[in-house]
Amino acid sequence: MFVLYKLRTSGHNMYINFWYPVCTAAELTGDKPLQVKILGMQFVAFRDSAGIPHVLSDTCIHRGGSLSRGKIKGDCVECPYHGWQFAGNGRCELIPSEGDAKPPARAKVDAYPTEERYGLVFAFLGDLPESERPELYEIEEYDAAGWRPSEAIILNVNCYYERSVENGLDPVHNQFVHPAQGFPPMHKETFRAWDEKWGTRFEAYFGDPVLENTVLAKDRNVTGELKAGSWFHGPNVLVTSIFVNAESNLVQYLFEAPVDANHTRIYFINMRNFMLDPAMDEKVMEVNLRITSEDIGILESLYPVRTPANRTQELMTSSDEIVVRYRDWLSEWEKNGWRIDQHAMQQAEGDIAYAIPSPARRETGNWVLEPVPLIAAT
Ligand code: FES
Ligand SMILES: [Fe+2]
Repeated sequence: MFVLYKLRTSGHNMYINFWYPVCTAAELTGDKPLQVKILGMQFVAFRDSAGIPHVLSDTCIHRGGSLSRGKIKGDCVECPYHGWQFAGNGRCELIPSEGDAKPPARAKVDAYPTEERYGLVFAFLGDLPESERPELYEIEEYDAAGWRPSEAIILNVNCYYERSVENGLDPVHNQFVHPAQGFPPMHKETFRAWDEKWGTRFEAYFGDPVLENTVLAKDRNVTGELKAGSWFHGPNVLVTSIFVNAESNLVQYLFEAPVDANHTRIYFINMRNFMLDPAMDEKVMEVNLRITSEDIGILESLYPVRTPANRTQELMTSSDEIVVRYRDWLSEWEKNGWRIDQHAMQQAEGDIAYAIPSPARRETGNWVLEPVPLIAAT
């Protein structure tokens, strides 16, 4: 059986109105602003004097300075060109050349809601009011007793983010890309999938396999029990849960920042409920990184780099069901009017500075930068 999925307008899909990882908490020191590229756009991240992280559009609305090349002054970031100072809420607090005059109402840049969790800083890149926002993914076991988190590690991958997410949603590749894991071959009868609030989840069942000489061989005493599963939350969060045996569970969280159409920065956090001794951290991460590098080897060589825009350019089978579901969700988010119009962006490259619209744009007008062009909601 072959699965057809709906026609999309182009292969290049990035969405506003989700939470994106910006940097690690440690990268955001108190003394320097940080420049971060996400969704093809530049942002500046900094901490105020209370240590609260802020993420602003990087383009100074005076005459285009890059705020991230400036300095932190008290609770503001100072533009390196003429010293205008912007607070964490995006308001310009000081225009040095104007003396004590209050900056005009139009002197503001977009500022995005932030959250610091799991050793990472996240920003909500969009304009939805709080009550309508997709939530930041909650790692339920993060602070739970009996679980140990890894420190977040950063993977800079030369691939398009959608390819990376789809790779995690593909149960069949394991047998070929990760032979040392020893999962038995998967086919459509061995997994089931269901939708959740912001994505789809699948669980793969292995019946009663004999797994000799593999990492899974130890302590197998179950029949037909869940052994692994993956799910996505929004366009850029991918979770994989692997039961090494009936009780021992590894859960891998990938928070993905689409940098641009060819690059993805992935923040990887591993949770485990066994081998809890901190001395095992390194070994666990070594295994994770070996598996991840096997995936990256494939991802960086996929062609086309972006997923094709229409179904005739791939041949999907029923085992690609979750990938197809992911693309259906992307189409839904496009219908919401959340998809960035990359063609319009590319045409304006170097001529127009856009900003991802922030929630404040729903409250006030009079913004200097144009909002990023979006595919109209349908
Ligand atoms: S361009 Fe930023 S202060 Fe002039
Ligand atoms: Fe993989």
